[in-house]
Amino acid sequence: MRIHDIDFEPYISSDHIEEAISKLAERINTDYADRDSPLLALITLSGAIIFASQLCKQLKVPVELAFVKCSSYGVTTHSSGDVKFEVEPTTDIKGRDVLVLEDIVDTGNTWVALNKYIKEHGAQSVRIATLLLKEEVYDKDLPLDYVALRVENRFLIGYGLDYNQLGRNLNGIYRPQTDR
Ligand code: IMP
Ligand code: MG
Repeated sequence: MRIHDIDFEPYISSDHIEEAISKLAERINTDYADRDSPLLALITLSGAIIFASQLCKQLKVPVELAFVKCSSYGVTTHSSGDVKFEVEPTTDIKGRDVLVLEDIVDTGNTWVALNKYIKEHGAQSVRIATLLLKEEVYDKDLPLDYVALRVENRFLIGYGLDYNQLGRNLNGIYRPQTDR
C-alpha cells in the first residue's frame, strides 16, 4: 500500500495490538485502584487517539480525558530533537495524577519535555503509557511505565501513526517495504 512516496506492508495486526492494550489496561486498573481522585489521561494529539480510545474503554478507575499536542517531527520521517507545544494541556494539571497516553516513544525527546512540563505545572504524579516503543533508539533515563509493544527501528504508520498526516486510520501497524 502506497502512502505519499513510500510503499508499506503489514507489520502488526489489530488483534495483536488490541490484546497488548487489554493487558496494559489491566495493569493500569490495578495500579490506580486505590487513588482517591480521578486519573487524568493526557492524550497526545493526534497520534494517540486511536490507542487512547481503545485503552480508556477498558479502564475501570475514574478517569478524565484531556489533550496536548507536541511536535518535533515536522514533515520528515526523522525527529528534530526540538519539542514544541502546539496545544498546551487542555485542563489544569495541578495536583492531578497524570497518565500521558502516547502513540510511540522513539528518541524520548517528547516524553522528556512533557514530563518536565507536567512536573513544573504541579502534578501530583506523572506516568506514561505508550502503545509502541522503539527500544533500540530510546536512550533517556526516565522510566517508561507502561509499554504495550516493543517495535523495530523503522518508520511505522497506522493505528494513529501517520506519514505526513496520512495512514492514521489504518487498522494495524504498517512498515516500509524496503529499508527505511
Ligand atoms: P520522540 O520524541 O522521538 O520519542 O518521538 C515521539 C513522536 O514522534 C511520536 O509521538 C510520533 O508522533 C513521532 N514518531 C516517532 N516515530 C514514529 C514513526 O515510526 N511513525 C510515525 N510517527 C513517529
Ligand atoms: Mg506523537
